[in-house]
Amino acid sequence: MTEILTEPLAEQVALDALWMPFTANRAFKQAPRLLAAAKDMHYTTDDGRRILDGTAGLWCVNAGHCREPIVHAIAAEAGRLDYAPAFQMGHPLQFRLAERLTEITPAGLDRVFFTNSGSEAVDTALKIALAYHRARGEPDRARFVGRARGYHGVGFGGISVGGIETNRRAFAAQLLPQVDHLPHTHDLARNAFSRGQPTHGAELAEELERVVHERGAETIAAVIVEPMAGSTGVLLPPAGYLERLRAICDQHDILLIFDEVITGFGRLGAPFAAQRFGVTPDVLTVAKGITNGAVPMGAAVVKREIHDAIMDAAQQAGGGIELFHGYTYSGHPLACAAGLATLELYEREDLFARAASLEGAWSDAVHALRGLPHVIDLRAMGLVAGIELDPRDGKPGARAFDVFMECFRRGLLIRVTGDIIALSPPLIVERGQIDEIFSTLSDALEKVS
Ligand SMILES: Cc1ncc(COP(=O)(O)O)c(C=O)c1O
Repeated sequence: MTEILTEPLAEQVALDALWMPFTANRAFKQAPRLLAAAKDMHYTTDDGRRILDGTAGLWCVNAGHCREPIVHAIAAEAGRLDYAPAFQMGHPLQFRLAERLTEITPAGLDRVFFTNSGSEAVDTALKIALAYHRARGEPDRARFVGRARGYHGVGFGGISVGGIETNRRAFAAQLLPQVDHLPHTHDLARNAFSRGQPTHGAELAEELERVVHERGAETIAAVIVEPMAGSTGVLLPPAGYLERLRAICDQHDILLIFDEVITGFGRLGAPFAAQRFGVTPDVLTVAKGITNGAVPMGAAVVKREIHDAIMDAAQQAGGGIELFHGYTYSGHPLACAAGLATLELYEREDLFARAASLEGAWSDAVHALRGLPHVIDLRAMGLVAGIELDPRDGKPGARAFDVFMECFRRGLLIRVTGDIIALSPPLIVERGQIDEIFSTLSDALEKVS
């Protein structure tokens, strides 16, 4: 099936027209890395090399690549219903997927708004938070609280509540005006090489009390955090931290939004991080793994009472459209077909439990890297790992990028963010492939100075 080109693609096509996202375009185009095909745990490059996928694409291909049931479902739906208007019309698959999704979301979160990406899911969740408080007669609850080192996509809402300086700098003149940030919880001095959740740092949740004290609870709509920060380097929540955030939000009627775009769909050995950590948010954002990455899709999943409050207020105001928000491709038929096939595959192969059962071996393999050159911290949970390297003097990120390149040369795809290597293989990974990931990475770490 897999057609590999006889000549590398890079030699056949002009590269200038495309502006690549979050990529060093100039450097990339001088030495392009092109993927031409994928199956299960592997990519194939345009010049025919097999690459073991240590990152599930970009944290999304949890069931492995090009799985037949998903491929067939998308193809069949493309031939049956290519598109249905998203506004004032519906189609069966979107209702079915919404219902199916709520079978695995935490109890009480059972109303689903579809988007096309994580960024849109986040903006949707923020809008729902505002609409909810307005519906309950508290329109002044408009502030959002995010967290340093949080990543919530690239919409103006997402970068405003997000805590990555480089993503905000160029746009700082026009971010959302009423946003505060909690400090991040990454604490190498106290928590380096912790196994599982770090012990120290629950007290950092008290910073939310400080914000409440300073701004007044009556001005705060929602707190948004990733239960485990993924994009800034796999930062696990300290024991007790999320519980404390939940308690403070409850005390002050502030909504708690968990951005589970990365942690959803089994990554941490449970359907969602909310279940893994035993803390239930009011709104949960998802994307990526919802369709196994095969068709773009995201969603905001909300507690029923939040949904109902918005519905009821609109009814009292005379009826009609309850929430003036949506996308042309909300609940696109192909995405819904992919989503239904994906959720069925996760269930049939019990992939979330599989991630949980591999956690011990995975974590042992991660922590066996201790002592390798420049490794200053190791973090693991479910099937995710963060391997933090000591940065080179004056050249942050350069060392990890060299490791990324060395791994790619050796047939392994990893992801790097600054000087942190993030691993998140598809949940179908075999034990032997875990060994391969870590032996390749060890060799690369030994080689890169
Ligand atoms: C936690 C989180 N939120 C939001 C997003 C944005 O998702 P997208 O790139 O689909 O817009 C990401 C992407 O990695 C993410 O990790």
